[in-house]
Amino acid sequence: MAEKNRTLHIEGMGCVHCEAKVKEAIEKIDGVSKVIVSHLAGQADVICDENTPDDAFSTVMEAFDGYNLTGMDDGNLRPDSMARIETREQADAFIEAQVDLLQKQIGDGGVLLALSGGVDSSVVAALLIKAIGKQLTCIHVNHGLMRKGESEQVIDVFQKQLGANLIYVDASDRFLDKLAGVTDPETKRKIIGGEFIDVFDEEAAKLTGISFLGQGTIYPDILESKDGIKAHHNVGGLPEDVKLELVEPVKLLFKDEVRVVGAALGLPDDMVNRQPFPGPGLGVRCPGAITRDRLEAVRESDAILREEFAKKGLEGKVWQYFTVVPDFKSTGIKNGKRTFDWPCIVRAINTTDVMEVTVEHFEPDFIDHLVNRIITEVPGINRVLIDYTPKPPATVEYE
Ligand code: XMP
Repeated sequence: MAEKNRTLHIEGMGCVHCEAKVKEAIEKIDGVSKVIVSHLAGQADVICDENTPDDAFSTVMEAFDGYNLTGMDDGNLRPDSMARIETREQADAFIEAQVDLLQKQIGDGGVLLALSGGVDSSVVAALLIKAIGKQLTCIHVNHGLMRKGESEQVIDVFQKQLGANLIYVDASDRFLDKLAGVTDPETKRKIIGGEFIDVFDEEAAKLTGISFLGQGTIYPDILESKDGIKAHHNVGGLPEDVKLELVEPVKLLFKDEVRVVGAALGLPDDMVNRQPFPGPGLGVRCPGAITRDRLEAVRESDAILREEFAKKGLEGKVWQYFTVVPDFKSTGIKNGKRTFDWPCIVRAINTTDVMEVTVEHFEPDFIDHLVNRIITEVPGINRVLIDYTPKPPATVEYE
């Protein structure tokens, strides 16, 4: 089994002379495979294996006491000194530093990127295209849990507009078969994450020169995984023997910062302001065991909601809005006949960093119109409920 890599992060690599000495000393530590120094960012990333003892690094840090090294962490800690990226200038500086780091980490290797079409992976794709161009291969996996028309849009934007190297994999049946009968939310997430990695490994095996895996992990994913709130698919689903080295250029950014960086990279407005969509997709909006008919009810009601929000000019103004179809039925009546169908829950929220959220309140006429469309157009739905709960106590998603 291959040893699992981890990344350590050293802050305060300010002067070229010290950098060379620190780099040389760290490279001698057992298990260290790479030291990537970014002079622009004044930092270094050290790729080492799981078994490298931390005290080996502490010894090096102590030996270089006085070289202005300000600290070492596990690479997943946002430094206190890091300012929130709000302006174009800050975004440009971040991009310049990341492009430098990415080029050094990747060299002339090939990178595979999971391109879901969401903001995070789109920004990572744009950063990688800027840093390494055609060395990047994007893979869009249709896991059968995509929103209506979404895979088509990813192909259109990335292949046609941005000219990216894009492989489209329709793995819907494979995912849905594996998920059949699985009710536990964490197990569902892990299955989806695990299948993702397997699909990438299989795709990588067909390509040559691929040694890196790009991911759109952002800081809340890392924080919530550390706190044990949930296993994020970007963090929790990795198998022990993962063969590709991770490339996660936005892992220390909050969502609002990722959008600012995306705009600075020249991504289209509708992509940068696109509402976030979880990695496990509609799977977490189909609580309990996913069935194809209930999933279809989520997909259709979501499409109606998005269409109505767009018509009202709320697209890009409300942070996130979606529907959930829970796994229980209630009695109803349609065309004089008794029905026993699912409810559809509508949720719309606003936030800046998704750690805390408030709800978007709907106008009564809008609610009436929405309810009418959903109950008449979506098979299997006989009720519509609006979720007006903030976070905390409720998370944004239902699983
Ligand atoms: P929660 O439910 O944790 O959601 O309050 C916060 C934000 O994160 C999104 N989310 C995810 N995004 N993979 C993702 O890429 C995931 O597994 C995942 N789970 C939640 C969610 O849609 C919301 O914007």
